[in-house]
Amino acid sequence: MEELQGTDGTVFSDRGRIYTRSREPGKRVYGERLVSVGGTEYREWSATRSKLSAYLSAGGRSYHLNSASKVLYLGAANGTTVSHVSDIACDGVVYSVEFSPRSFRDLVKLSEGRSNVFPILADATRPDEYSFAVDKVDMVYSDVAQKNQADILADNMDRYGARYGMVCIKARSEDVTAPPERIFEMSRKRLVERGLKVLDLRSLEPFEKDHVMIVVERPRTAYCVAFDGDRFLMVYHPRRKGWEMPGGKLESGETPEEAARRECLEESGYDVEITAVRDIGYCDVCAARIVGRKGDGEMRAELFSEVPDELSFDRTEYETVVPWARENL
Ligand SMILES: C[S@@+](CC[C@H](N)C(=O)[O-])C[C@H]1O[C@@H](n2cnc3c(N)ncnc32)[C@H](O)[C@@H]1O
Repeated sequence: MEELQGTDGTVFSDRGRIYTRSREPGKRVYGERLVSVGGTEYREWSATRSKLSAYLSAGGRSYHLNSASKVLYLGAANGTTVSHVSDIACDGVVYSVEFSPRSFRDLVKLSEGRSNVFPILADATRPDEYSFAVDKVDMVYSDVAQKNQADILADNMDRYGARYGMVCIKARSEDVTAPPERIFEMSRKRLVERGLKVLDLRSLEPFEKDHVMIVVERPRTAYCVAFDGDRFLMVYHPRRKGWEMPGGKLESGETPEEAARRECLEESGYDVEITAVRDIGYCDVCAARIVGRKGDGEMRAELFSEVPDELSFDRTEYETVVPWARENL
């Protein structure tokens, strides 16, 4: 048994077949073959039963799972692929969303022996409805086989702050009459429109007909919560018609601190000293102290004692990061 290259020691291969190290030795989930090597049990991961295995078997290596991953899995069905993701993320969490009560029953059974699987009976098109059960995640994996697969992935990545996403696009679920290649291109374009960077788009043939896997990453951004005494700085975005913290995308080779400081200077004209950084999933937030003003920025800048009403983005995030930054000056 050898580690499958590019999977960080979480997936194995032997004579062309792939395996995960079983979290529940002695148990089969879907009739898969169990193999013992040197006292460790492995479960064969079928490429015809699981699209994630098909992706790896088709040579896909844009792989963003590790033993500590927190994964939001949409379209968990009976848990075939979930069980392997649970083997991989052995110290992490696999929130598993499924809306069919029948499949959900199997999923609950699976979770009884696998403490990192959290079954959630819910509709993946309504990500707000399971926020009571799901924390911030590292990656969203989506295999819902229904219309608007790209938007379902992007909505869930936005809601749960995921950096990476994988979506299985089944052409027939979008439109039975359109040529599959057109559907795949439309899905790719939609993900880009949603601000995501496409890392891989790969056909799942010969394991699944007219399916591709698209792997995306949210480009890293950083913003600062910059204080002058007790008040903090915000800039007004004319197109978004709201106040926001100064920040933006990291340029190549930049650290989050460098990007937040540069963006703050460009947008507001204020120079800052960064005192702490916090990773909130899709972006890094920097606590900062204003050290001077170097002129006018590109946007209107004002100091506030409280988060204003008219905002470009979600208020709850600011309500958490402003007190955190104040404590970290
Ligand atoms: C192709 S199957 C998933 C197979 C599974 N990912 C695996 O590899 O073991 C699609 C599943 O998505 C579920 N599904 C479809 N739309 C959904 C939605 N909006 N919310 C939650 N589950 C959904 C279906 O009930 C079905 O179980």
